[in-house]
Amino acid sequence: MKVLVTREIPEAGLRPLEGFDVTVLSELPPERDELLEAARGVDGVLSTLTETIDATFMDASGDGLKVVANMAVGYDNIDVAAAKERGIVVTNTPGVLDETTADTAFMLLLAAARRLGEGERIVRAGKWEAWGPKMLTGPDVWGKRLGVIGFGRIGQAVAHRAKGFDMEIFYTARSRKEDAEKRLGARYVELDELLRESDFVTIHAPLTEETTHLISASELEKMKQRAVLVNTSRGPVIDEGALAEALANNRIFAAGLDVYEEEPKVHPKLLELENVVLAPHIGSASIETRDKMAATAGEDLRAVLRDEQPKNPIGL
Ligand code: NAP
Ligand code: GLV
Repeated sequence: MKVLVTREIPEAGLRPLEGFDVTVLSELPPERDELLEAARGVDGVLSTLTETIDATFMDASGDGLKVVANMAVGYDNIDVAAAKERGIVVTNTPGVLDETTADTAFMLLLAAARRLGEGERIVRAGKWEAWGPKMLTGPDVWGKRLGVIGFGRIGQAVAHRAKGFDMEIFYTARSRKEDAEKRLGARYVELDELLRESDFVTIHAPLTEETTHLISASELEKMKQRAVLVNTSRGPVIDEGALAEALANNRIFAAGLDVYEEEPKVHPKLLELENVVLAPHIGSASIETRDKMAATAGEDLRAVLRDEQPKNPIGL
Protein backbone atom coordinates (compact mmCIF):
# COMPACT_ATOMS: atom_id res chain seq x y z
CA MET A 1 0.00 0.00 0.00
CA LYS A 2 1.15 3.52 -0.80
CA VAL A 3 1.65 6.09 1.94
CA LEU A 4 2.43 9.77 1.46
CA VAL A 5 4.20 11.65 4.25
CA THR A 6 3.85 15.33 3.35
CA ARG A 7 6.89 16.66 5.25
CA GLU A 8 10.09 15.27 6.74
CA ILE A 9 9.07 14.07 10.21
CA PRO A 10 10.89 12.49 13.17
CA GLU A 11 11.99 8.88 12.58
CA ALA A 12 9.51 7.76 15.28
CA GLY A 13 6.69 8.50 12.82
CA LEU A 14 8.24 6.50 9.97
CA ARG A 15 8.91 3.33 12.01
CA PRO A 16 5.23 2.29 12.17
CA LEU A 17 5.09 2.66 8.38
CA GLU A 18 7.70 -0.02 7.67
CA GLY A 19 6.33 -2.45 5.10
CA PHE A 20 4.34 0.21 3.24
CA ASP A 21 5.54 1.94 0.06
CA VAL A 22 6.35 5.31 1.67
CA THR A 23 7.09 8.61 -0.09
CA VAL A 24 8.30 11.46 2.09
CA LEU A 25 8.09 14.93 0.58
CA SER A 26 10.22 17.94 1.48
CA GLU A 27 11.45 19.48 4.73
CA LEU A 28 9.50 22.67 3.91
CA PRO A 29 5.78 22.58 3.02
CA PRO A 30 5.27 21.26 -0.51
CA GLU A 31 3.78 23.54 -3.18
CA ARG A 32 0.10 22.81 -3.80
CA ASP A 33 0.79 21.33 -7.28
CA GLU A 34 3.46 19.05 -5.87
CA LEU A 35 1.13 17.93 -3.10
CA LEU A 36 -1.73 17.13 -5.49
CA GLU A 37 0.62 15.26 -7.80
CA ALA A 38 2.03 13.25 -4.90
CA ALA A 39 -1.50 12.39 -3.70
CA ARG A 40 -2.23 10.27 -6.78
CA GLY A 41 -2.96 6.65 -5.94
CA VAL A 42 -2.11 6.82 -2.23
CA ASP A 43 -3.89 4.72 0.41
CA GLY A 44 -2.83 6.78 3.40
CA VAL A 45 -1.50 10.28 4.09
CA LEU A 46 0.47 11.46 7.09
CA SER A 47 -0.01 15.23 6.93
CA THR A 48 1.06 18.19 9.03
CA LEU A 49 -0.82 21.40 9.79
CA THR A 50 0.80 23.25 6.88
CA GLU A 51 -0.99 21.17 4.23
CA THR A 52 -4.57 21.89 3.20
CA ILE A 53 -6.29 18.54 2.94
CA ASP A 54 -9.54 19.44 1.20
CA ALA A 55 -11.94 17.78 -1.24
CA THR A 56 -9.65 18.63 -4.18
CA PHE A 57 -6.76 16.83 -2.48
CA MET A 58 -8.94 13.84 -1.60
CA ASP A 59 -10.25 13.57 -5.17
CA ALA A 60 -6.74 13.94 -6.59
CA SER A 61 -5.76 10.82 -4.68
CA GLY A 62 -8.29 8.68 -6.56
CA ASP A 63 -10.64 6.23 -4.86
CA GLY A 64 -8.14 4.43 -2.67
CA LEU A 65 -7.47 7.01 0.07
CA LYS A 66 -8.52 5.49 3.39
CA VAL A 67 -6.85 7.63 6.04
CA VAL A 68 -5.39 11.05 6.72
CA ALA A 69 -3.36 11.07 9.93
CA ASN A 70 -2.56 14.66 10.92
CA MET A 71 0.60 15.15 12.98
CA ALA A 72 -1.09 17.81 15.12
CA VAL A 73 -3.98 18.02 17.55
CA GLY A 74 -5.56 20.90 15.61
CA TYR A 75 -7.16 19.78 12.35
CA ASP A 76 -8.53 22.99 10.88
CA ASN A 77 -6.33 22.27 7.82
CA ILE A 78 -8.52 19.25 6.99
CA ASP A 79 -12.03 19.24 5.57
CA VAL A 80 -13.34 16.55 7.92
CA ALA A 81 -16.85 16.66 6.43
CA ALA A 82 -15.46 16.01 2.93
CA ALA A 83 -13.41 13.12 4.32
CA LYS A 84 -16.46 11.63 6.01
CA GLU A 85 -18.48 11.84 2.78
CA ARG A 86 -15.72 9.88 1.06
CA GLY A 87 -15.33 7.33 3.88
CA ILE A 88 -11.82 8.58 4.70
CA VAL A 89 -10.77 8.30 8.36
CA VAL A 90 -9.08 11.40 9.84
CA THR A 91 -6.93 11.16 12.97
CA ASN A 92 -5.02 13.69 15.10
CA THR A 93 -2.61 13.65 18.06
CA PRO A 94 -4.47 14.74 21.21
CA GLY A 95 -2.94 14.45 24.67
CA VAL A 96 0.72 13.89 23.81
CA LEU A 97 1.50 17.59 23.43
CA ASP A 98 -0.51 19.17 26.26
CA GLU A 99 2.30 19.78 28.74
CA THR A 100 4.78 21.01 26.12
CA THR A 101 2.28 23.42 24.59
CA ALA A 102 1.23 24.63 28.04
CA ASP A 103 4.91 25.32 28.78
CA THR A 104 5.07 27.42 25.62
CA ALA A 105 1.98 29.41 26.60
CA PHE A 106 3.42 30.10 30.04
CA MET A 107 6.80 30.96 28.56
CA LEU A 108 5.13 33.57 26.31
CA LEU A 109 3.04 34.87 29.20
CA LEU A 110 6.11 35.43 31.39
CA ALA A 111 8.22 36.79 28.53
CA ALA A 112 5.54 39.27 27.44
CA ALA A 113 4.81 40.46 30.99
CA ARG A 114 8.45 40.82 31.98
CA ARG A 115 9.58 42.20 28.62
CA LEU A 116 12.17 39.54 27.87
CA GLY A 117 12.17 40.18 24.11
CA GLU A 118 12.87 43.89 24.55
CA GLY A 119 15.60 43.13 27.08
CA GLU A 120 17.29 40.62 24.81
CA ARG A 121 17.24 43.07 21.91
CA ILE A 122 18.89 45.73 24.10
CA VAL A 123 21.62 43.36 25.30
CA ARG A 124 22.35 42.00 21.82
CA ALA A 125 22.50 45.50 20.32
CA GLY A 126 25.14 46.50 22.89
CA LYS A 127 22.75 49.17 24.21
CA TRP A 128 22.60 48.04 27.84
CA GLU A 129 24.17 50.82 29.90
CA ALA A 130 23.44 49.85 33.50
CA TRP A 131 20.95 48.26 35.88
CA GLY A 132 18.05 50.70 35.95
CA PRO A 133 15.55 51.41 38.75
CA LYS A 134 12.83 52.00 36.13
CA MET A 135 14.22 49.83 33.38
CA LEU A 136 11.95 47.28 31.64
CA THR A 137 9.40 46.99 34.42
CA GLY A 138 6.27 44.97 33.73
CA PRO A 139 3.35 43.58 35.70
CA ASP A 140 3.87 40.77 38.20
CA VAL A 141 2.48 37.42 37.16
CA TRP A 142 2.23 35.66 40.52
CA GLY A 143 -0.96 36.21 42.46
CA LYS A 144 -2.83 37.71 39.48
CA ARG A 145 -5.91 36.44 37.64
CA LEU A 146 -5.55 34.25 34.55
CA GLY A 147 -8.43 33.96 32.08
CA VAL A 148 -8.32 30.78 29.98
CA ILE A 149 -10.36 30.74 26.76
CA GLY A 150 -10.92 27.08 25.86
CA PHE A 151 -10.57 24.84 28.90
CA GLY A 152 -9.71 21.48 27.36
CA ARG A 153 -6.49 19.50 27.62
CA ILE A 154 -4.04 22.37 27.01
CA GLY A 155 -6.07 25.12 28.70
CA GLN A 156 -6.25 23.03 31.87
CA ALA A 157 -2.51 22.23 31.71
CA VAL A 158 -1.82 25.99 31.60
CA ALA A 159 -4.14 26.54 34.58
CA HIS A 160 -2.20 23.84 36.47
CA ARG A 161 1.01 25.83 35.92
CA ALA A 162 -0.75 29.05 36.99
CA LYS A 163 -1.64 27.46 40.32
CA GLY A 164 2.08 27.26 41.05
CA PHE A 165 2.16 31.03 40.58
CA ASP A 166 -0.71 31.51 43.07
CA MET A 167 -2.95 32.75 40.27
CA GLU A 168 -6.71 32.84 40.38
CA ILE A 169 -8.25 31.08 37.37
CA PHE A 170 -11.25 32.14 35.32
CA TYR A 171 -12.17 30.12 32.26
CA THR A 172 -14.67 29.98 29.46
CA ALA A 173 -15.56 27.10 27.14
CA ARG A 174 -18.68 25.81 25.43
CA SER A 175 -19.52 23.68 28.46
CA ARG A 176 -18.77 23.71 32.21
CA LYS A 177 -15.90 21.51 33.42
CA GLU A 178 -16.89 20.77 37.01
CA ASP A 179 -14.11 18.26 37.75
CA ALA A 180 -11.47 20.68 36.52
CA GLU A 181 -13.10 23.51 38.47
CA LYS A 182 -12.59 21.52 41.68
CA ARG A 183 -9.12 20.25 40.79
CA LEU A 184 -7.79 23.64 39.70
CA GLY A 185 -9.98 25.98 41.73
CA ALA A 186 -11.16 27.49 38.46
CA ARG A 187 -14.34 29.53 37.96
CA TYR A 188 -16.52 29.45 34.83
CA VAL A 189 -17.39 32.90 33.47
CA GLU A 190 -18.73 34.26 30.19
CA LEU A 191 -16.15 35.59 27.73
CA ASP A 192 -17.14 39.18 28.45
CA GLU A 193 -16.42 38.88 32.19
CA LEU A 194 -13.22 36.95 31.53
CA LEU A 195 -11.91 39.75 29.31
CA ARG A 196 -12.89 42.53 31.69
CA GLU A 197 -11.60 40.89 34.87
CA SER A 198 -8.45 39.00 33.87
CA ASP A 199 -4.88 40.28 34.15
CA PHE A 200 -3.68 37.62 31.72
CA VAL A 201 -5.71 35.98 28.96
CA THR A 202 -4.56 32.82 27.20
CA ILE A 203 -6.34 31.21 24.24
CA HIS A 204 -6.68 27.43 23.86
CA ALA A 205 -9.83 26.98 21.76
CA PRO A 206 -9.62 25.31 18.33
CA LEU A 207 -10.07 27.34 15.14
CA THR A 208 -13.66 26.95 13.99
CA GLU A 209 -16.23 29.20 12.34
CA GLU A 210 -17.31 30.25 15.85
CA THR A 211 -13.83 31.11 17.06
CA THR A 212 -12.60 32.96 13.96
CA HIS A 213 -11.81 36.52 15.14
CA LEU A 214 -13.23 35.65 18.55
CA ILE A 215 -10.87 38.37 19.77
CA SER A 216 -11.33 41.52 17.69
CA ALA A 217 -11.25 45.25 18.43
CA SER A 218 -14.35 45.22 20.65
CA GLU A 219 -13.01 42.35 22.78
CA LEU A 220 -9.59 44.01 23.12
CA GLU A 221 -11.41 47.18 24.18
CA LYS A 222 -12.88 45.29 27.14
CA MET A 223 -9.52 44.12 28.47
CA LYS A 224 -7.59 45.79 31.30
CA GLN A 225 -4.99 48.29 30.20
CA ARG A 226 -2.29 46.25 31.94
CA ALA A 227 -3.53 42.96 30.52
CA VAL A 228 -1.33 40.53 28.62
CA LEU A 229 -2.82 38.36 25.85
CA VAL A 230 -1.28 35.02 24.85
CA ASN A 231 -2.23 32.93 21.83
CA THR A 232 -0.94 29.43 21.18
CA SER A 233 -4.14 28.12 19.55
CA ARG A 234 -4.50 29.30 15.93
CA GLY A 235 -3.78 32.73 14.46
CA PRO A 236 -7.23 33.53 13.01
CA VAL A 237 -8.80 33.31 16.48
CA ILE A 238 -7.43 36.86 16.89
CA ASP A 239 -7.92 39.72 14.45
CA GLU A 240 -4.20 40.43 14.08
CA GLY A 241 -4.70 43.94 12.69
CA ALA A 242 -6.89 44.89 15.65
CA LEU A 243 -4.35 43.41 18.06
CA ALA A 244 -1.49 45.36 16.46
CA GLU A 245 -3.56 48.53 16.82
CA ALA A 246 -4.36 47.80 20.49
CA LEU A 247 -0.70 47.10 21.28
CA ALA A 248 0.51 50.21 19.43
CA ASN A 249 -1.94 52.38 21.37
CA ASN A 250 -1.06 50.66 24.66
CA ARG A 251 -4.71 49.61 24.93
CA ILE A 252 -3.31 46.43 26.49
CA PHE A 253 0.14 45.97 27.98
CA ALA A 254 1.60 43.21 25.81
CA ALA A 255 1.00 40.02 23.88
CA GLY A 256 2.77 36.72 23.37
CA LEU A 257 2.02 34.94 20.10
CA ASP A 258 2.97 31.55 18.71
CA VAL A 259 0.46 31.50 15.85
CA TYR A 260 -0.58 33.94 13.11
CA GLU A 261 -3.40 34.54 10.67
CA GLU A 262 -1.31 33.79 7.56
CA GLU A 263 1.68 31.77 8.70
CA PRO A 264 4.53 32.22 8.12
CA LYS A 265 3.60 35.87 7.44
CA VAL A 266 3.28 38.09 10.48
CA HIS A 267 1.28 41.31 10.37
CA PRO A 268 3.88 44.01 9.50
CA LYS A 269 2.70 46.27 12.34
CA LEU A 270 3.36 43.54 14.90
CA LEU A 271 6.94 43.22 13.67
CA GLU A 272 7.54 46.87 14.53
CA LEU A 273 6.24 46.70 18.08
CA GLU A 274 8.31 46.16 21.21
CA ASN A 275 5.42 44.94 23.37
CA VAL A 276 4.78 41.66 21.60
CA VAL A 277 6.78 38.44 21.85
CA LEU A 278 6.70 36.52 18.57
CA ALA A 279 7.40 32.78 18.40
CA PRO A 280 7.33 30.80 15.12
CA HIS A 281 4.60 28.21 15.92
CA ILE A 282 6.77 26.15 18.27
CA GLY A 283 4.08 25.29 20.82
CA SER A 284 4.72 21.54 20.75
CA ALA A 285 8.36 21.72 19.66
CA SER A 286 10.13 19.64 22.30
CA ILE A 287 12.18 16.70 21.06
CA GLU A 288 10.16 14.21 23.10
CA THR A 289 6.78 15.60 22.12
CA ARG A 290 7.50 15.79 18.40
CA ASP A 291 8.58 12.12 18.55
CA LYS A 292 5.31 11.23 20.29
CA MET A 293 3.22 13.23 17.79
CA ALA A 294 4.92 11.57 14.83
CA ALA A 295 4.58 8.09 16.37
CA THR A 296 0.92 8.70 17.22
CA ALA A 297 0.13 9.75 13.65
CA GLY A 298 2.14 6.87 12.14
CA GLU A 299 0.53 4.26 14.39
CA ASP A 300 -2.99 5.47 13.65
CA LEU A 301 -2.30 5.53 9.91
CA ARG A 302 -0.98 1.96 10.10
CA ALA A 303 -4.00 0.84 12.15
CA VAL A 304 -6.47 2.07 9.54
CA LEU A 305 -4.55 0.49 6.66
CA ARG A 306 -4.56 -2.80 8.58
CA ASP A 307 -8.31 -2.54 9.17
CA GLU A 308 -7.73 -1.96 12.89
CA GLN A 309 -9.26 0.75 15.08
CA PRO A 310 -7.11 3.93 15.24
CA LYS A 311 -6.68 5.48 18.70
CA ASN A 312 -7.54 9.04 17.71
CA PRO A 313 -10.25 9.18 15.06
CA ILE A 314 -11.91 12.57 14.61
CA GLY A 315 -15.69 12.46 14.67
CA LEU A 316 -17.80 15.30 13.35
P1 NAP B 1 -9.35 20.48 23.44
O1 NAP B 1 -8.92 19.58 24.53
O2 NAP B 1 -10.37 20.00 22.47
O3 NAP B 1 -9.87 21.86 24.10
C1 NAP B 1 -10.44 22.88 23.36
C2 NAP B 1 -11.28 23.73 24.28
O4 NAP B 1 -11.80 24.82 23.52
C3 NAP B 1 -12.49 23.01 24.90
O5 NAP B 1 -12.59 23.36 26.26
C4 NAP B 1 -13.67 23.59 24.13
O6 NAP B 1 -14.85 23.67 24.90
C5 NAP B 1 -13.17 24.99 23.86
N1 NAP B 1 -13.92 25.64 22.82
C6 NAP B 1 -14.32 25.16 21.61
N2 NAP B 1 -15.04 26.08 20.96
C7 NAP B 1 -15.09 27.16 21.76
C8 NAP B 1 -15.69 28.43 21.66
N3 NAP B 1 -16.41 28.76 20.57
N4 NAP B 1 -15.56 29.31 22.68
C9 NAP B 1 -14.86 28.96 23.78
N5 NAP B 1 -14.25 27.76 23.95
C10 NAP B 1 -14.37 26.88 22.95
O7 NAP B 1 -8.11 20.94 22.56
P2 NAP B 1 -6.57 21.02 22.98
O8 NAP B 1 -5.93 19.70 22.78
O9 NAP B 1 -6.47 21.68 24.31
O10 NAP B 1 -6.00 21.98 21.82
C11 NAP B 1 -6.53 23.27 21.64
C12 NAP B 1 -5.98 23.90 20.37
O11 NAP B 1 -4.64 24.30 20.59
C13 NAP B 1 -5.89 22.98 19.15
O12 NAP B 1 -7.12 22.91 18.46
C14 NAP B 1 -4.82 23.63 18.32
O13 NAP B 1 -5.39 24.53 17.39
C15 NAP B 1 -3.99 24.42 19.33
N6 NAP B 1 -2.62 23.89 19.48
C16 NAP B 1 -1.57 24.68 19.11
C17 NAP B 1 -0.29 24.24 19.32
C18 NAP B 1 0.89 25.09 18.94
O14 NAP B 1 1.90 24.55 18.52
N7 NAP B 1 0.80 26.39 19.09
C19 NAP B 1 -0.04 22.98 19.88
C20 NAP B 1 -1.13 22.21 20.23
C21 NAP B 1 -2.42 22.67 20.03
P3 NAP B 1 -15.81 22.39 25.12
O15 NAP B 1 -14.97 21.38 25.81
O16 NAP B 1 -16.89 22.91 25.99
O17 NAP B 1 -16.23 21.95 23.76
C1 GLV C 1 -0.12 22.35 16.64
O1 GLV C 1 -0.34 23.48 16.39
C2 GLV C 1 -1.12 21.35 16.85
O2 GLV C 1 -2.31 21.63 16.62
O3 GLV C 1 -0.73 20.23 17.22
